[in-house]
Amino acid sequence: MSNKRFPDGFLWGGAIAANQAEGAWNEGGKGLSVADVAMFKANVDVKDYAKHVAINTQTITAAMQDESDADYPKRRGIDFYHRYAEDIALFGEMGFKALRLSIAWSRLFPTGEEAQPNMEGVQFYINVFKEMKKHNIEPIVTLSHYEMPLALSVKYNGWVDRQVIDCFVRFSDACFDYFKPYVKYWLTFNEVDSICRHPFTTAGIIPDKLTLGKEKQEIYQALHHQLVASAMVTRDCHEKIPESMVGCMLTKLTTYPHTCHPKDVELTLLKNLDNYFYADVQVFGEYPPLTLSRWQREGIKVEMTQADCDVLKAHTVDYVTFSYYMSMTESASDDVERAPGNTIIGVKNPYLDETEWGWQIDPVGLKISLLELYDRYRKPLMVVENGMGAKDTVENGNIHDPYRIKYFKEHFEQMREAINMGVDCIGYTSWGPIDIVSASTSQMSKRYGFIYVDQDDFGQGSLERMRKDSFYWYQDVINTNGESL
Ligand code: BG6
Repeated sequence: MSNKRFPDGFLWGGAIAANQAEGAWNEGGKGLSVADVAMFKANVDVKDYAKHVAINTQTITAAMQDESDADYPKRRGIDFYHRYAEDIALFGEMGFKALRLSIAWSRLFPTGEEAQPNMEGVQFYINVFKEMKKHNIEPIVTLSHYEMPLALSVKYNGWVDRQVIDCFVRFSDACFDYFKPYVKYWLTFNEVDSICRHPFTTAGIIPDKLTLGKEKQEIYQALHHQLVASAMVTRDCHEKIPESMVGCMLTKLTTYPHTCHPKDVELTLLKNLDNYFYADVQVFGEYPPLTLSRWQREGIKVEMTQADCDVLKAHTVDYVTFSYYMSMTESASDDVERAPGNTIIGVKNPYLDETEWGWQIDPVGLKISLLELYDRYRKPLMVVENGMGAKDTVENGNIHDPYRIKYFKEHFEQMREAINMGVDCIGYTSWGPIDIVSASTSQMSKRYGFIYVDQDDFGQGSLERMRKDSFYWYQDVINTNGESL
């Protein structure tokens, strides 16, 4: 069974996000985004994601006055803005069938409230899509990947305010109008479930501006606005581009019970349900009753109009995508070792190895995730982020990265098994096929790529691109549609 090929037309590729790759934060008419004020904190433990993503009014104000990129690596990215042709050619050389990328909202609408898009921004993406077409690379476009215009965050406290829905719909409609000839696959919100873990990155919510005692309620209200906006733009996309596919995107935080103690099993179930509920709304068009009941018990009152409920129900997604990096376990006991994951803390699994950032490596967890998601949603699936952050060393111009090859090989084998078991998985885009700035820690040294970028955490380096050993390995996998595994 495991030697079977991947389906014909399987979309092999990679995924990047504008705020982590483009740089050019103050070029081409772009406005500041929430990513442009994220600081690199050299002295904070890399396993302490909460401290890395912490932000407040004071640090934002200081960042807005700072015109340099020295402390703000996402302002620099890897200069994809100027080097996209070279980078896309390298993806083409690897044989990419697809590239997932995002549109920087503030490149099109610098403050988020303009009536018309900034045409220099529009043209940039048209150029990128044309370049991809030359290499037969299909774009998968995320409309919102951790980068709303900072002005909306400051003025409205981000998505907490309902008015942001209109701003997002205007932005998305412009994307559909201008990029229609190039883009079939769309995603609305990256990791839509991440709003509670890092409200500023995900939804422009400045924590010290939340009402005391109502923090959770306001965050869920913001989430509700995102879900309604997601349904509205799904509607618009289907109208404007009838052949389009619009998907949701979930951080798949696969969690196992730490032991078979029923309390561990119960806690694990609740944790997994809490992970699913975001995608449930986008697939089924309504909030799960258990979520509504939990909100009620916790005194959380989310304002929802009948029109909101109607739009959610009428405009559900066509496919389900997710990121998968690691798994964790859950336990009712305090006497357990905790371990960091993708902006979440779980309980360490004694059977798994971990990366240098403490994320637990679990290829079987990818198969489990695919089976669970397909059984639950019965929609085509796409793995749109997967990979391991690692430190690489350049030796005489070579980068030997057997650890990365091992990680991918084991994950691909599990993905193939899930497909052979009946899961309709239509594509796979590895995270950061070229080294980019880390979302959580803003490091460059946390590298995911098949392509090395000569830049350190402080922005020093030539930005030269170099092929790692894994580059040739992935090229082979794609060229043989997985038979080389
Ligand atoms: C995902 C995000 O959560 O994980 C990406 O969608 C991010 O933007 C990726 O880069 C890996 O996380 P990190 O913090 O290692 O960059």
